[in-house]
Amino acid sequence: MRTWICPGSFDPVTSGHLDIIKRAAGMCDKLIVAVGVNYKKKPFFSAEERKSMLEKATEDISNLEIVIFSGLLIDYAREKHAVAIVKGLRAVSDFEYELQMALLNKRLDESIETIFLMTNINYSFLSSRAVRELAANSGSIEGLVPDEVLEDIKRKFGKGGK
Ligand code: PNS
Repeated sequence: MRTWICPGSFDPVTSGHLDIIKRAAGMCDKLIVAVGVNYKKKPFFSAEERKSMLEKATEDISNLEIVIFSGLLIDYAREKHAVAIVKGLRAVSDFEYELQMALLNKRLDESIETIFLMTNINYSFLSSRAVRELAANSGSIEGLVPDEVLEDIKRKFGKGGK
């Protein structure tokens, strides 16, 4: 059983994330989508909300587990017997940070690879931050996030979100 782990903040999940998740799930036996609780970041959506939106958006993918994790990703990956960490790359600007993370994680556990999937060109401009900014200012986010979570996001911002 070849398990991969796809970590992220997913604050909130975007169509770009979903594209990477679908493609990665097609390349391994089991994909664990891991919602990170990062002590350095104050997310807009709670970890439970982020997990719930991911669950709604991925109902049709069978070899998927959505989890919340904290602490070091590599420890969690090891605990789950994952053989690879998979992440999406949009631009050169992502690369520097991701390379640093990949090399650090490799240093911590040489047996776990980091695999990068290039973004679908249609989503190369897209980020959770952009979605939050649009939603906070009543801009359209249709097509930028999975249809299944559109109302959840609008509702959250409608209730005084910024
Ligand atoms: O790209 P993102 O969405 O900001 O990624 C968030 C996440 C959770 C994947 C990242 O912050 C992470 O890996 N956090 C766990 C802490 C860790 O293992 N850091 C790497 C070694 S310093």
